[in-house]
Amino acid sequence: MIELLRRFGGKFRRYMVIGPACKLIEVIFDLLTPLVIAQMIDKGIGAHDVNAVVHYGMLLGAMAVIGISFTLVCQKMAALTSQGMGTDIRGALYGHINKLSYAELDRFGTPSLITRITNDVNQVQLAVALGVRMLIRWPFLAVGSMCAALAIDLKLGIIFLICTPAIGLVFWFVMARCIPYYKQLQAKLDRIALICREGLSGARVVRAFVREDHERERFAQAADDQAHVAIAVGKLSSILNPVTFLVMNLGVCAILWVGGIQVNVGELTQGQVMAFVNYMTQTLTSIVYVANLVVVFTKASASASRINEVLNCAPSITDEGNEPVALPEPSAMGDTALVPALSLSHASFSFGAGAANAVNDVTLELPLGKTLGIIGGTGSGKSTLVSLIPRLYDAGVGSVSVMGTDVRSWPLDQLRHVVATVPQRASLVSGTIRSNLTWRDESATDEELWAALDMAQASEFVRNKPQGLDAPVEAGGKNFSGGQRQRLTIARALVGSPQILIMDDSASALDFKTDAALRHAIRERSVRGAAEGGLPLTTVIVSQRVSTVRDADMICVLDHGSVAGLGTHDELYASCQLYREICQSQLRREELEGQQGSAAPASAPSPASAPTAPASTCAKEGC
Ligand SMILES: Nc1ncnc2c1ncn2[C@@H]1O[C@H](COP(=O)(O)OP(=O)(O)O)[C@@H](O)[C@H]1O
Ligand SMILES: [Mg+2]
Repeated sequence: MIELLRRFGGKFRRYMVIGPACKLIEVIFDLLTPLVIAQMIDKGIGAHDVNAVVHYGMLLGAMAVIGISFTLVCQKMAALTSQGMGTDIRGALYGHINKLSYAELDRFGTPSLITRITNDVNQVQLAVALGVRMLIRWPFLAVGSMCAALAIDLKLGIIFLICTPAIGLVFWFVMARCIPYYKQLQAKLDRIALICREGLSGARVVRAFVREDHERERFAQAADDQAHVAIAVGKLSSILNPVTFLVMNLGVCAILWVGGIQVNVGELTQGQVMAFVNYMTQTLTSIVYVANLVVVFTKASASASRINEVLNCAPSITDEGNEPVALPEPSAMGDTALVPALSLSHASFSFGAGAANAVNDVTLELPLGKTLGIIGGTGSGKSTLVSLIPRLYDAGVGSVSVMGTDVRSWPLDQLRHVVATVPQRASLVSGTIRSNLTWRDESATDEELWAALDMAQASEFVRNKPQGLDAPVEAGGKNFSGGQRQRLTIARALVGSPQILIMDDSASALDFKTDAALRHAIRERSVRGAAEGGLPLTTVIVSQRVSTVRDADMICVLDHGSVAGLGTHDELYASCQLYREICQSQLRREELEGQQGSAAPASAPSPASAPTAPASTCAKEGC
């Protein structure tokens, strides 16, 4: 909490001084009130002097008005500080989360990050507001009342001195047991958020598989878990109020008894006894409020450490000090094989210390303007392999280079501008088609957007919308079909003229004809780009369909993260058993028969084969 205050409180230091100072003035008036009441009783009511009653009554009224005015100022300071700090913390958290790499995001988990940015910041905000308003009030009121009471009469003060530690002891007993539960409560809330998110985002699948009961049960279980802890805390803290008021009322009885005797013998006035009772109740209620403050601050400190955990988590992928990379000069290139657009050298990556490599010792080189197809079963590491290229993850071992420069030496912005990725899960955000398409280039013209849509085979359905490019997109793009969403994300990647396009299973929801038209358009664009004096577009296509990758200049067959084969379709069909099995399971008999003739290992590589592509290799046993 202190760390957060140090980080974000500086701007609000003035408010944090003015607020409590105003509160202090209000507390002083609160402390004077019992003394004025005592005077009113002794000099007014006791002496049957109406004028004195009116006089003191007006004084009390004036004190109340002044007290309220200062309270209002304090309240405003508290609101400005807490809301301001809350907004700043939320902004900083969101900004920092956006800088974290996939590895850190995986570690925290999205639901936990959402809880931290919402609920945890709220707890801190509440504590700051209460801190400005109450941190001075209650302790000052408790101590001030105690001193004032002792100043009135030391003998009655003994009752006071017995009651206060008794209540303090009860609080200590309860709080010491409650505090550990508050930390647990936050973790349980995280779990509820996770189940909510999974259940709601996958609502269609849940219904399709008739898993509603199961999901309901899972949610009920998590909610019950949280409720059990909350009830345990509630039970413990429920003894606080009755015990406090019991002790307080016993104290008041004792004061009235002993005080009554002292009034009778003339040692004290009635007004003084009343003032004493007031001070006593003020002190003891202050202790109750201090305890509540302890609860709020304990919760806030648990939340603050969760917020700091994120803020202090340094992104593992940074580009500090990296100078912009000069792209190869198209005119000087002549031979496109001069610089490989993409090269991986013994690249390996694993998701955790003990986990098996998701990408294992991959070495390949793709010349500029060529197409690499990556094929393999589910979980074979295709998505992980391609996420090493725009540095969404860093290869643990080996290196990945783009345009001849190690990705770790690129400024991240430039790298991700040069490399456009179409992720496996098509994600759109609420807004319009235009706002979704201009992510990579905000100044893209309509002409450029339509060209990208044309290439992505998306222009037809966009044209059919009355608002065209300004047609609304709902959250997650749920007002579009799976295939339409995929095409829009492909178009988004094509805006801003990338040099390398990665499509991670991005055509899975497209029919074969559209898929083929898409690949044809991309190839045309690559050729056109080169003819117009630019760099030709280099493409990486990840797919589980042979038909999508068979025309690629080079195909990489992945099996459990390792390269099982590398070469053209014909080469691999002839030499790689795994690739042949995939082909046999997917291609029609006629296509396969046509294949047999050209599949002889000695057959010449297809004309499209990459000039520097290594000769077909197959790591699979028996290949
Ligand atoms: N975020 C992640 N955390 C831990 N393991 C992961 C994560 N993403 C993928 N994996 C694991 O890495 C392996 C490769 O996954 P992936 O690259 O997504 O495969 P593919 O794209 O070929 O289906 C799988 O075994 C998968 O379980
Ligand atoms: Mg994948």
